[in-house]
Amino acid sequence: MAPQVVLTGDRPTGRLHIGHYAGSLVQRVELQNEHRQYVLVADLQALTDDAKQAQAVRRNIVEVAIDNLAAGVDPAKSTFCVQSRLPELAELTFYFLNLVTVARLQRNPTVKLEIAQKGFRRSIPAGFLCYPVSQAADITAFKADLVPVGEDQVPVIEQTIEIVRAFNGIYGDTLVEPKARLSTGPGARICGLDGRAKMGKSLGNAIFLGDSEDELRRKVRAAFTDPRHLRVSDPGHLEGNVVFAYLDAFDPDRQGLAELKSAYVRGGVADGATKERLFRVLNELLTPIRRRRRELEDDRAAVIRILEDGTAQAKSVVADTLARVRTAMRLDELV
Ligand code: TRP
Repeated sequence: MAPQVVLTGDRPTGRLHIGHYAGSLVQRVELQNEHRQYVLVADLQALTDDAKQAQAVRRNIVEVAIDNLAAGVDPAKSTFCVQSRLPELAELTFYFLNLVTVARLQRNPTVKLEIAQKGFRRSIPAGFLCYPVSQAADITAFKADLVPVGEDQVPVIEQTIEIVRAFNGIYGDTLVEPKARLSTGPGARICGLDGRAKMGKSLGNAIFLGDSEDELRRKVRAAFTDPRHLRVSDPGHLEGNVVFAYLDAFDPDRQGLAELKSAYVRGGVADGATKERLFRVLNELLTPIRRRRRELEDDRAAVIRILEDGTAQAKSVVADTLARVRTAMRLDELV
């Protein structure tokens, strides 16, 4: 396959958790070997959630970069950059806003769901409603043709494609149309420790990449299992059982896991035993990440340099796109 330009990103509203790891970090580590990959720390998008969390967002820029680096995203292969340091992205967003209707934004299923989750009710920040437009600007400014997404972000890419077609239709062929690359498999969508559909940074139901061994043990012990499994001898159920959902996503010993599942369903396996296995599996995954995290925490200056160098590289790409956009829109000359 010919190399493509990949854009991926995270809102720095908090640290990254094992859901991010399985859903996107693993992919980034693969994609960076075959493609030109940019990892955007989307601090402006994070502010659309809640403008008042500016201080936390600023702190989390470095934390999110550290999570990516610790998980194996390699700054020699992937370009890290900070959204707010690339004002071209905001400029392009402003042009794109003329190409979408308010009704279309309100119909976007991703935005609709998030509005319900965040409890905005009638006080939806206009910036939040418009974040898919800003994301369309991110994607096209980087000339990305491949955007890895979870299922929930697919409508954002569909909206990007509509905007690209509208722009190219009106101003002439200027922007690259992207494709979504859907993450699949048991790790693509990790539920919360409490059994809720989504593991969320702010929902209190996440295992973070930086959690200590003790925190990990405590969280795994509290994971939702099977309320009908009262006695060890009772038959257990796998659906809705968080411990098995996580084992499905992370346990490399598939044979052993299949055997444990049939024993659990028959009855006679304690939840303590399945949790012990899960703790072991996750601790093996997180131990090296935790170690690299600590090294990076001790050298934050190096992390900041990675962000600055990457942003400088990104700057030349997005500036080139914006120059083309201004020419296409007849904004580059006064008469
Ligand atoms: N929407 C992504 C998230 O929720 C972050 C993001 C911002 C992004 N801009 C992007 C992802 C561009 C891919 C491409 O975390």
